[in-house]
Amino acid sequence: MFGAACAGEDAMIKYLGSKRLLLPFILEAMRDLQPQGQVLDLFSGTSRVGQALKAAGYSVIANDNNQYAHCVAQCYVEADAEDHALDLERNLAILRQASPLDGWFTETYCRQSRFFQPQNGARIEGMRIALEQMPLTPIQKSILLVALMEAADRVDSTTGVQMAFLKSWAPRASNPLVLRKPELLPRSPGGPCQAWCLDALDAANQFEGDVVYLDPPYNQHSYLGNYHIWETLVRWDFPEVYGKACKRVDCRQRRSAFNSKITIAEALQKVLEALSGRPMLVSFSDEGYLQREQIEGMLAKHGTVETRQQSHVRYVGAKIGIHNQQGLKVGQVSHLKNQEFLFLVRP
Ligand SMILES: C[S@@+](CC[C@H](N)C(=O)[O-])C[C@H]1O[C@@H](n2cnc3c(N)ncnc32)[C@H](O)[C@@H]1O
Repeated sequence: MFGAACAGEDAMIKYLGSKRLLLPFILEAMRDLQPQGQVLDLFSGTSRVGQALKAAGYSVIANDNNQYAHCVAQCYVEADAEDHALDLERNLAILRQASPLDGWFTETYCRQSRFFQPQNGARIEGMRIALEQMPLTPIQKSILLVALMEAADRVDSTTGVQMAFLKSWAPRASNPLVLRKPELLPRSPGGPCQAWCLDALDAANQFEGDVVYLDPPYNQHSYLGNYHIWETLVRWDFPEVYGKACKRVDCRQRRSAFNSKITIAEALQKVLEALSGRPMLVSFSDEGYLQREQIEGMLAKHGTVETRQQSHVRYVGAKIGIHNQQGLKVGQVSHLKNQEFLFLVRP
């Protein structure tokens, strides 16, 4: 379930539900459904799927309601390598020279909580402040923010989510922060790509697309709660925080209807109605709130449904086992693989 994405294995942030390992399976299904044209990716996350589609020659509209994910999609889906050959290296060189600054970010995420070691926190903070002062287009800014997010991710002290930090420092947390160049994709022959930060329903109403890819959250794990530091790093809004993990207070209000067992079916139904008449490719897991038959029933109202499935390694926590509050292993999880479904809907 976890995946690093983009060019190299460790080139992108660790992300719950990343489809990195399922890309061949998804691309094959997409080609069978719609061999070319424009794809609307409504829940883009790491934008890993959007990147693969762009690289395969589609024009992609990537959307996600969290700003850090929008920023990632601006960098890897909307931006074309040809347009940033010169400015990117120059801007990265400026950022690498920024003086460390031990302020709000370092205090919050390195002392009140312990997600990064203070020397790295201060480097992240110094670069983030320098970045704010540079004259950049929105796309240039997003590319640099992604470079910073990825650099911070490589020295974090978590298991891949920001709900908690490790009791003892992860070995990688002592490494010095290194800013690498994000590997942008060349322009797609299918046409320009775009990134948006909207609720999925609004995006479904606003954009057409020849085909739609849907990969919604499928259980209680809130993306904003799990990646609150990336949201803060991108927004740079110094939010009020709460709890041991210093989460943004808006994690309590900005809840996705897809993270609730009570509201997920209705939320998905509304999006499907807005998309009706378009071919759709839907990702879902057998560990989600909705059962395979339930989803097939919902999709059947919008066309003929073909279901494909593939087994997939579960997230890293499943391999580590179940631990108590003191960090002692107290049990094994029942299984290390789950089934990933792809539903192809032909209107
Ligand atoms: C399963 S992840 C997508 C993973 C993505 N396909 C990838 O490979 O990285 C679901 C995404 O939906 C986003 N999301 C949650 N609720 C949403 C909503 N109501 N509208 C738009 N995006 C939403 C989350 O921020 C998260 O990035």
